Amino acid sequence: MFTKLENQIHFHYGSSSLIFEILEDGQIGFLYFGEKLPADTDLRNHQLRGMHALSPVRDLESLLSHKNARLCYAPEGHGDYSTPAFRLKHEDGSPIFDLRFQGLRRFDGSAKLSELPSLYASDTEAETLVLEFEDKQHGVGLELYFSLFSQLPLLASHSRFYRRAGQNEAERIRLCSASSLCLDLNDADYELVRFHGAWGRERYPQTQALHYGVQSLASRSGTSSAEALPALILKRPSTDEFQGLAYGASLLWSGSHCCGVDVSETRRSRLFLGLHPDQIEIELCPGAKFETPEAIFAYSNTGLNGLSSVFHRFYFQHLISPRYRKQLRPILLNNWEATYFDFNEEKLLDIARRAKQAGIELFVLDDGWFGERNDDRRSLGDWQVNYAKLPNGLDGLAKKIVDLGLDFGLWIEPEMVNPDSELYRQHPDYVLADPRYSASLGRYQLVLDFSRVEVVDAIYEQLHNCFKSLPLHYVKWDMNRYFSEAYSQGGVDIEATCRRQGRLYYDYVRGVYSLYEKLQTAFPDILFESCSSGGARYDLGLFHYAPQAWCSDNSDARARLEIQTGSSYFLPPAALGAHVSAAPNHQLGRNCPLRTRAYVAFFGAFGYELDLSQLSDEDLNLIRELNDFYTEKRALFQLGQFERIILPFGNAAAAFMVWNEERSEAALLYYQKEIHCNTAPHMLRLENLSPTDLNRYRIHLHSTGEKLGEYPAQYLRSVGLLIPEPEIYRAGPDDAALLFLIERIA
Ligand code: DGJ
Repeated sequence: MFTKLENQIHFHYGSSSLIFEILEDGQIGFLYFGEKLPADTDLRNHQLRGMHALSPVRDLESLLSHKNARLCYAPEGHGDYSTPAFRLKHEDGSPIFDLRFQGLRRFDGSAKLSELPSLYASDTEAETLVLEFEDKQHGVGLELYFSLFSQLPLLASHSRFYRRAGQNEAERIRLCSASSLCLDLNDADYELVRFHGAWGRERYPQTQALHYGVQSLASRSGTSSAEALPALILKRPSTDEFQGLAYGASLLWSGSHCCGVDVSETRRSRLFLGLHPDQIEIELCPGAKFETPEAIFAYSNTGLNGLSSVFHRFYFQHLISPRYRKQLRPILLNNWEATYFDFNEEKLLDIARRAKQAGIELFVLDDGWFGERNDDRRSLGDWQVNYAKLPNGLDGLAKKIVDLGLDFGLWIEPEMVNPDSELYRQHPDYVLADPRYSASLGRYQLVLDFSRVEVVDAIYEQLHNCFKSLPLHYVKWDMNRYFSEAYSQGGVDIEATCRRQGRLYYDYVRGVYSLYEKLQTAFPDILFESCSSGGARYDLGLFHYAPQAWCSDNSDARARLEIQTGSSYFLPPAALGAHVSAAPNHQLGRNCPLRTRAYVAFFGAFGYELDLSQLSDEDLNLIRELNDFYTEKRALFQLGQFERIILPFGNAAAAFMVWNEERSEAALLYYQKEIHCNTAPHMLRLENLSPTDLNRYRIHLHSTGEKLGEYPAQYLRSVGLLIPEPEIYRAGPDDAALLFLIERIA
């Protein structure tokens, strides 16, 4: 429902309310987003007004100053000194525009962006409000889109700039930054949770109280990156995993970004998320438009698990293609850590045969199958099979794999080229590089210039040719380096070339999305998994196309506890590729028990990444048993609601669990990283059980099948489940993992 009350714009839909204020100078103030309020709620006088020292006023009557007002999508240059939502520039360098509110419109459903990922929402699942602004003098307009959802407490937002044709056409106007979401919150009594990381250590939450000034986390790498997740959480200091108010925001964007909060001296907290402001300069030509990626902003009054549950439901209901909403993901085996580049058909078939016997369903051939790729120094860009390794071709191998009863999947890295490749020899200008200078190599490779349509088309043609002859069920799309010397070559004239540079970081990502669109249109049955040196592109933009991602190259179970926990704040287990790899682990050398490795990987899109021919019969039998169990419980693990119980960061133990939709069944992992001498028995309190839950639960241990007992919810919540000594189960002492199966007693 949408109403106007005095100068307030009320948007109430589903369980949420969003309230703006039309300010005296034609700007829009932000008053509220959260739990639904009564329609007659009056938030008049919630803005700080008055003649304050050092605060230029926009309107002498109302004494409105941008320095003190809570703005929505704050413009720069009118007396506001916090981070602006956008920056426009006239030809002569003046940054002053006056985009005034003109009116609004609403429609059923969510917004459709023309060349960027858009959410899926039917006309009864969402409603959208569009606020319209224009600088009439220059014919520059802005539309702000805000969608609310019927089933979820969240907001989707993006902005669309345009320039009218036929007005001041000769003037050059540039857009120099543009957020997807920029809202001023009323106070600064929040803690900011950011997710930083590195290769092999992705998405570690870091929590800090808000302080004055800007606090942000950004990627300038051309990708969403391992170092900075394009997302953040704001929570009240008393909020924890189980209770309290939290807001979460995340971008549907796979390129450079900047997300943060700017706290002013009046303790106004400006939240901003969007494209990295240093890396765009868009020529707003007459008749042109520019869209920012979408941002998602959600709230929870039930702590961080509640917030995650909103994002997880959003992933299933509105982000990924509807065909994958209920589809269970296959148990796969990827040959990378089993063989690296050293394989031939016989070796692969031997692994595949054992995989089939062990209950694995999909065989994925990783890097090394094309060109002359026997190491990582050559052939990226040449997507034709390496007959020296695979004399029967990919189709010959795929047919044999399918005949074994397995599905077939393939690795590609379409955005890259090695200088030692046919593609580069023929088209040296296809890469991001400035020919006047030498180009830095990352893993001996260069980034293809996906901002150019002809480059994307050339790769599409090669991949199309390759895929069309294969019974292909799955593609792993990798991306193993960041941008450097980012310059787009091959422009027709100096002016056009110059304009292209300002759009490069934006158009590159659009090129990536367009290749996904083209391949998915041509091959609708292929399930895509994204990857970027493990989990360096774990953003909602890519998840729109590829519903799962290899979440880290670090497959050590203890490290994965932390990586999977950090990854779980915005995405559910089904999104997260998790494989059992060899012991000792190839990244850390740690020897975690097989059962521990599998139990941790169960909480993801489960698979294997090891040479089965190196395993003992005992281990192979255990794998068969674990696969049978996982197959039976797959819907619970992949579609269930994930909840964090003990965070692994800095703790000797960690615990998390999944519940089915009815909350009648759950699987709970307890992981003891290190054994300590002379400690009291550990009682694991399930604080995620509701205080109003009067049910009893039967609990047994998966490894032995032993029934531990039947417990009332109040007991499990307040006293806790007594954790058995790991030695008893011969699983420890270090890296002992216990999997508890929980059933509600009818
Ligand atoms: C990086 C990925 O993260 C690995 O899983 C593997 O696919 C290699 N690339 C192959 O080069």
